[in-house]
Amino acid sequence: MLEKVNHIAIAVPDLDAAVATYSDTLGAPVSQKQALPEHGVTVVFVELANTKVELLEPLGEASPIKAFLDKNPSGGMHHICYEVADIATARDRLKAAGARVLGDGEPKIGAHGRPVLFLHPKDFNGTLVELEEVR
Ligand code: CO
Repeated sequence: MLEKVNHIAIAVPDLDAAVATYSDTLGAPVSQKQALPEHGVTVVFVELANTKVELLEPLGEASPIKAFLDKNPSGGMHHICYEVADIATARDRLKAAGARVLGDGEPKIGAHGRPVLFLHPKDFNGTLVELEEVR
């Protein structure tokens, strides 16, 4: 069911500072900022040859990463995103296996314009898992 790692996401308290760290200190190409109000985050992608790193900053008071940053004030690894061919089939299989799908269980459109879902970290060894449909 899982295909490639699409990206690894890091929550950051200050996106401009994180962009400077990745572009200037680490010498990596970083995308333009993208506000995703439906997800409560502003994101950039660090574009590497084999995968991407998503840097997430809270957007709005109800941001789902606010509590995470309260616990991890300097930022931290937030989720890993795997590609799947068919997100509805993946969701149904995971629910049948007892995994908890976050939100209302319906895919939302993610940062790449593709459907995404998040899975409860307690069902996946303490790691928040994002699934993204790639075709
Ligand atoms: Co993500």
